[in-house]
Amino acid sequence: MAQEELRKEETLAMRNRLIGQSCKLFYSEDPVKIVRARGQYLFDENGKRYLDCISNVQHVGHCHPAITKAAAAQMDVLNTNSRFLHDNIVLYADRLAATLPQKLCVFYFVNSGSEANDLALRLARQYTQHEDVVVLDHAYHGHLMSLIDISPYKFRKLAGQKEWVHVAPLPDTYRGIYREDHPNPGQAYADTVKDLIEDVHKKGRKISAFFAESLPSVGGQIILPQGYFPKVAEYVHSAGGVFVADEVQTGFGRVGHHFWAFQLQGDDFCPDIVTMGKPMGNGHPLACVATTAEIAGAFTANGVEYFNTFGGTPVSCAVGLAVLDVIVEEDLRGNAVRVGAHLKDLLTKLKARHEIIGDVRGVGLFLGIELVIDREKKTPATEAEDQICVSTDGPWENVLKFKPPMCFGMENAELVVQCIDRILTVTSNWKRKTSKVCQTCRKHFNCIRQSQVVTFIIFRGRD
Ligand SMILES: Cc1ncc(COP(=O)(O)O)c(C=O)c1O
Repeated sequence: MAQEELRKEETLAMRNRLIGQSCKLFYSEDPVKIVRARGQYLFDENGKRYLDCISNVQHVGHCHPAITKAAAAQMDVLNTNSRFLHDNIVLYADRLAATLPQKLCVFYFVNSGSEANDLALRLARQYTQHEDVVVLDHAYHGHLMSLIDISPYKFRKLAGQKEWVHVAPLPDTYRGIYREDHPNPGQAYADTVKDLIEDVHKKGRKISAFFAESLPSVGGQIILPQGYFPKVAEYVHSAGGVFVADEVQTGFGRVGHHFWAFQLQGDDFCPDIVTMGKPMGNGHPLACVATTAEIAGAFTANGVEYFNTFGGTPVSCAVGLAVLDVIVEEDLRGNAVRVGAHLKDLLTKLKARHEIIGDVRGVGLFLGIELVIDREKKTPATEAEDQICVSTDGPWENVLKFKPPMCFGMENAELVVQCIDRILTVTSNWKRKTSKVCQTCRKHFNCIRQSQVVTFIIFRGRD
């Protein structure tokens, strides 16, 4: 394969020359060159193995043989666009429908989470005939211009907030405006959306949609308080808007007991639109919008065809079907429940030993550790994050995030906790020595990579 033929330095030089520099590499100081992967492991060009704690895209495991087989078999027979009648797209839509509340019964297949959210915005606007959108603070919903506009995490660094976008507080009960000690944080945070909608109405504007990740990941692996979504949906509906749940990161059983993370908000809660992506195709570009017959009907009524060249091809849908099969056959949701609980338990024990761990939170294999300098004041420990170099998120990028392939095992959970324990110990020693340089690699504090055969992958930034 081409990438194995080039020396790492050559690959890097070519990349610097040929690829836009805003497409960042993980660990730009000393990039990792991954040449193959299997299950929850990545291998570099020297055969060194890395434990992958964050690839939520390779949901059932990297290069799962059943997925490869399904893709290759269909690729060998037919891969047209979805304007030809074909079984795969309808069989796949039917299988997805079985995972969702009955109301969500119409599907549009697209290629990325961004496309799914862009289409959701179009559907919402077409159905409601309103323009404005309420989003959660620190949210990220994709890289298209329409989605930069509704992603405070991005627009704050760019053109700023559009007049049709309204930002509600992130319902973070660890450090938000209402915390664990509040008698009903779900209601209190929902009321902030109600107030926001009233302000919008006072300006003579109207709400088309409320967009939220079912568990805000870029916001810092936040677990939303109970009752929040149902109450928000009530307020949004009475304003004539629709509720969009972005499940691009959280869907497909990651949370274990439920197939969709919005289901954590109660069996009766049902969004009007659900967007999905990353884990759907296990790395194949497959994404989708699920909605109600009424919303889809309004979209059809505008008389304009919706055509997406690569969305829902026979190969994409064969891959999607195979992913659903593996989730069931390998009981990956059960695994997420068991391994996620074990990992959370170990991390919680670690909290007792390391002052820097302010909070351990999560559900299934969607976990976050929030690092703080001071537990009382909850001052984000952003310095420590630099030394540790694990995957981070949150407004201050001080939340270590875990969303590994769903085949992550008990022994992987134990190894991760040992690694974190060791790094945090090294970090506190480092602080005492006030040395800025790692004693082993003389460069930085991810020297843990050099010191062991298996280490956890240390991506920095979002994926
Ligand atoms: C919550 C969420 N929504 C949407 C997207 C956009 O998905 P994609 O990168 O597939 O366009 C992302 C990507 O990180 C995401 O995290």
